[in-house]
Amino acid sequence: MHPWFRTLTEEVRDSSLTIEGSVPAWLDGTLVRNGPAHFDTATGRVSHWFDGLAMLRRFAFDDGAVGYTNRFLRTAAYRSRVDGDVVATEFGTGLTSLVRRLVATVLSTATDNANVTVARLGGRYVALTETPRMAVFDPETLLTFGERRFDDDVPGQWTAAHVERDRERGEVIGHTVRFGRESSYHVYRLRDGTRTRTEIARIPVDEPAYVHSVGLTDRYVVLPEVPFTADPRRFLRPGVEAFVDAFRWDESRPTQFHVVDRDDGSVRTVDAPPFFFFHTVNAFEPADRDGVVVDLVAFEDASIVDALAFDRVERGVREATGDLRRYWIPLDGDGPATGRPIAEHVALPRIDPVDRRRPYRHAYAQRTGDVDTTGLVRIDVTDGTETVWRERGCFAGEPVFVPRNQQSEAGRDSVVRDGSDDGVVLAVVLDRDAERSFLLVLDGSTFEERAHAWLPHALPLGFHGEYFE
Ligand code: CO
Repeated sequence: MHPWFRTLTEEVRDSSLTIEGSVPAWLDGTLVRNGPAHFDTATGRVSHWFDGLAMLRRFAFDDGAVGYTNRFLRTAAYRSRVDGDVVATEFGTGLTSLVRRLVATVLSTATDNANVTVARLGGRYVALTETPRMAVFDPETLLTFGERRFDDDVPGQWTAAHVERDRERGEVIGHTVRFGRESSYHVYRLRDGTRTRTEIARIPVDEPAYVHSVGLTDRYVVLPEVPFTADPRRFLRPGVEAFVDAFRWDESRPTQFHVVDRDDGSVRTVDAPPFFFFHTVNAFEPADRDGVVVDLVAFEDASIVDALAFDRVERGVREATGDLRRYWIPLDGDGPATGRPIAEHVALPRIDPVDRRRPYRHAYAQRTGDVDTTGLVRIDVTDGTETVWRERGCFAGEPVFVPRNQQSEAGRDSVVRDGSDDGVVLAVVLDRDAERSFLLVLDGSTFEERAHAWLPHALPLGFHGEYFE
């Protein structure tokens, strides 16, 4: 088994990492990442990579030094798995695909194994997954402070772990899905400092789709409804067997972009040829045309979902290749949405947070498609130019861009964006031969390596993280 997918049980606290090169002294915040790290059960092994227990990983920067802490979330899922009481709550055991995991999640006990990402919501640091159960944690010690749910009546048994933050308007935008006799998507806002979501729009749907993230512009929320959908009646019948194939790919159906007005909640729907996706990259409204640009990482179909089950994940993760595509969604009734490729073989895309909701230049992503390495790529989305970092035998996770001046987002009207990318890119990289991971620090403008900070162990591949000032 590739060390990316081996259980790591060791937890360390405030380990001072050995650094090769130099970490810039201006970097003085904290990167917190999340992801599965424990894949064993009393009876064997979970079947899907996504079912691993959530481990937080913290990198604290201080005057060129890097302190490292890693800790499992202490959730009910952790206690039952580690204490050996597998059958009672391990919804994924014996199931072989994300589809089955998702269905089991919706139907039976919504898991509290919040292993997808982290965010600061309502003044608390929380770990998130695709159920409404969030885990509150201490960003210094990574201690788990218990569970949190939103205090409101926005419905939905399923929610995207990804939310879109709009600092200028002081809110976070996300969506939930309600499965039932009448199913619906619910687009909501969460004002900063509160824990009460407000529904912006309710979109009825016969067969809800798997939608992992949305796009956000100054005026609109864009929910791409892909043709990978489930008949909700299956969720209403007892018995797991009936739900096994609830989600299915139907390429005869279009992908539909639901464009929600953030102020009045009105919804316009624009069709596009079918595609599957997990992650939007950025979205904005051009000044001169009535419509929305949405950049996302698209797949031809939903086969990536089954490729991440453990029997295929080693090859699946590295060979599963998405395309960075730019979709133009006209809002003047002028035809369907159209997409054009910008880059191939990318996953886990990020941008400079300053660039959100604006025409921008650079996206950062994993470079997939090679079994001997997973690199990182910076893509100039205006012309497709790429700058790549990679080393044979090294496998990089999601790259997080940290601008040198974090405050610039709030006052960015006065900031000239020249594409110079003054900042760094942070990513955790696994060295397969050394069986250890390191934190890689790349220069944002040259994409050349500035430093390696060696971890005391090999970290399993994580999903997402955030840099907190
Ligand atoms: Co994601």
